This record gives sequence, structure tokens and C-alpha cells, in this order.
Amino acid sequence: MPIDDLTAFGPDFAWGAATSAYQVEGAAREDGRAPSIWDAFCRVPGAVAGGDTGDVACDHYHRWREDVALMAALGLGAYRFSIAWPRVLPDGGGAVNAAGLAFYDRLVDALLEAGIEPHPTLYHWDLPQALQDRGGWPSRDTAERFAEYASVVAGALGDRVASWATLNEPVCAAWLGHLRGVMAPGVADVGQAVPASYHLMLAHGLGVQAIRAAAPGARVGVVHLLTDCEPGSDRDEDVAAARREDGHHNRWWLDPVHGRGLPADMIEEYGVEPPVRPGDLEAIAAPLDWLGVNYYRRSVNVADPDGPPPHARQITPDGTPRTGMDWEIHPDRLERILVRVTEEYAPRSVMVTENGSAYTDTVTGDGAVHDPERTAYLEAHLAACASAIRKGVPLDGYFAWSLLDNFEWAYGYAQRFGLVHVDFGTQERTVKDSGHRYAEIIRAHRGLSAGTVATGR
Ligand code: IFM
Repeated sequence: MPIDDLTAFGPDFAWGAATSAYQVEGAAREDGRAPSIWDAFCRVPGAVAGGDTGDVACDHYHRWREDVALMAALGLGAYRFSIAWPRVLPDGGGAVNAAGLAFYDRLVDALLEAGIEPHPTLYHWDLPQALQDRGGWPSRDTAERFAEYASVVAGALGDRVASWATLNEPVCAAWLGHLRGVMAPGVADVGQAVPASYHLMLAHGLGVQAIRAAAPGARVGVVHLLTDCEPGSDRDEDVAAARREDGHHNRWWLDPVHGRGLPADMIEEYGVEPPVRPGDLEAIAAPLDWLGVNYYRRSVNVADPDGPPPHARQITPDGTPRTGMDWEIHPDRLERILVRVTEEYAPRSVMVTENGSAYTDTVTGDGAVHDPERTAYLEAHLAACASAIRKGVPLDGYFAWSLLDNFEWAYGYAQRFGLVHVDFGTQERTVKDSGHRYAEIIRAHRGLSAGTVATGR
């Protein structure tokens, strides 16, 4: 990306990288952490490639000092991580595990000392198994326990943490976890998926109240995985499939949070009434300080009458550029999504909270990791962000996914998203060429004088 384009990013733009607890921490049984639904799911034969688990992952629970130093060396101004609910409240609610909470306390202090703004997310899919055993997300109690958990964490860290996210990508927790069964807890039942999706949204709403009560003045947001849904052909059934997929993936989540209620067309499509109680929708629609957008790829759809709702199947057209995971590369769709959310929902502030690409990188004889495809992906998507800012998107941050190669859920460890390579045998970290390039971009942006960096708005 030409350095000129950096003038679109405001002087306080947050340059960050992201991880999540289960994907990097390891130490799955240490200091009182209880199992989560992902610990259980990883034990289901065939559920995760290679039978991999997050038991050790990047061992970040022990190597956090080294990882903070690595972030500082890259010049990151912000770090997005998630807090493991089963570390803090092993039973989901009730007794607080002081040792678990202390880990995040130390991490936050170390980040601040290094001049890196902590951006914690409270829920990145690792529900305490104890709550799953009592009904999981299909049960309203889980949303109420989330508010309790949010209050404990915000109470402990809110004096130092300025920005909080309630949930990461509830779309995956709900639909991949409860409708398609390919993520924890591995359920495939629309009758459970719809209440699960609804209680995730309710957890968000109650969580916002809990954070604001415990940490007045905190900036609170939610992180959604958004995609640009388009039809695989101009046939009416494929156009309708793309519209349904947009409802399922984007509107189902964005509409209620922005006070528009649950999309009626999707309730009809699911054939399941969400268990709304008086006052819920108002809580879910509490005005937010920022909206997090995770973007990886577009979604091209054809009608799939025999599949589960929304009866749309994603295809990958021939000849499109793809990452190592076969995900299409379309930076222009990131710009389109950012412009769309701004025009349709008018968020106060937007952050790209995840964006990145996976390849099967290796350390070469020269001790480096040459990943030109990831560098190109990064630069093209940053250019899309710059263009979105110029079109009026109030974009205040970008978090590369991911800081480290890590446990990529059902794909296990084979697919690597990191700016930093991790040798999972020795835990050695090696900054990839893309990481060096990101550091260079961040330095270049910092180097621009305040007078020449536009606010973009
Ligand atoms: O690794 C995941 C992350 O946990 C959530 N967003 C998408 C990433 C890549 O699949």
C-alpha cells in the first residue's frame, strides 16, 4: 500500500492485532480454569482436524510477557484479546476464581506499561461447560450469567480498560454451533439455534448494562462477522438465496442492536419464534460506542432447498484469488461492508476488529517466514479501509487477525493466520515478513506529522 494512503487514517487511529483466549492461552487446566464447550468439542472424534485441542495452543498463559514485548517491538498501539469465562467463573456464575482473573490483571498492566491499549472481548466462544450442562445458549439463564460475568470482569479491570466488546461473532456461536453443528457445542437443530442466537443478543444487551454500571465511562461495543452476500447467478432463486443469507449472516445481528427489532422475514424463514420478553429488545438496542466489523471474504450463494435455513449454499466461483484456506480475496467488499453499515446503521465509531488470511507458512533456511500473499492481503485491505474512511466511514481502528498463529477451531493448527509464526513444538515465535511490513506501515503512519494526518471525517 502506498504510504500516501496512510493520510486517511486519523492521528489516533488504533493499529492493533487480535487473538482469543482459547486459541492462544493453553493452560487449559491450570489455576482453577474449568472446561469450556471447546474443551469438550475437541474431544468429539472427528470434530477438529488432526484431533487438535487448545490445551497448549501458543502457551500464551505462560509466555504473555514475551508476547507483549513482541507487540511492543511491532509498534502495536492496541491489542484485542478475549477473556476466558471458565477461568474467571469456572461454574459460569457464583464463585470468582481469583487466580484466573489475576492473569488478565497482569496482562492489562503489562500492556499499558508497554503503551498498548487493551481491548478485551468478554465472549469469544468458550462457554463454561457447566453452563452448557445447564442448557447453554438456548437457555435464558446463560444470558443472565453472562451479565454477572461481565460485571465481575469490568469491576476488576474497568479502572484500566477503556474499551470493551461484549461478544465476538455471535453468528458463529449460534449458527455454526447450534444449526450446522460444526463448532462447539456441535448441535444441529434450528429449534435450539434460534433461542441460542436470541440469548446471545440478550447477553450482549445485559452485558452492556453490566459493563457501564461497573465501569462508568467505558466505551462498549460488539463484534460482528460481516460479509457481502451476492447471488451465484441472476436466477431468481439464487438472488433470493443471497438475500436470505444476508438476513441470516448480517441483518439478524445488526438490526436488533440498532433498534430495528428482529427481521420478520428471517423469523418466518426459521419457523421458530425467538423467546422475546418485555424489555429485552430495548436492552439489546442500548446505543453503542463502537461497532466491530470482522471481515475475511465475500459470500456467493445459490439456492439450497434441501439444506437448513436460510436454504442458501456458499460457492467459490472458479478463477477468483483465494487464501490457503480457499477463502476468496475481495478487499473491495470490505470497503462495501464498511460503507453499508455506516449508511444503514450510523454507528458512532467503527473498528475493523479482525481481518487476515491463512496459509501454511514455514520458517525457511534464512530463519525468516516469507509470506508475500499475506502481505498483499494486508495492504489491499488497509487500502480498502483508507478508501472507506474517505467515503465517510468513522473508522477508528484496525486489528489484524492474528498476532500469532493459533488454534483455528475445527481446522486445528494447520492453517496459520499470524503475523508471527509459532512453532508449536518449541513455542518459538518468528515475525513473518507480513508482520515486519505491518510494523513499517504503523511506523510510517506515526511518522506523519500531526498536520498532515487527516481525520478522514
Ligand atoms: O480464528 C477466527 C476467530 O476466532 C474468529 N474470526 C474468524 C477467525 C478466522 O477464522
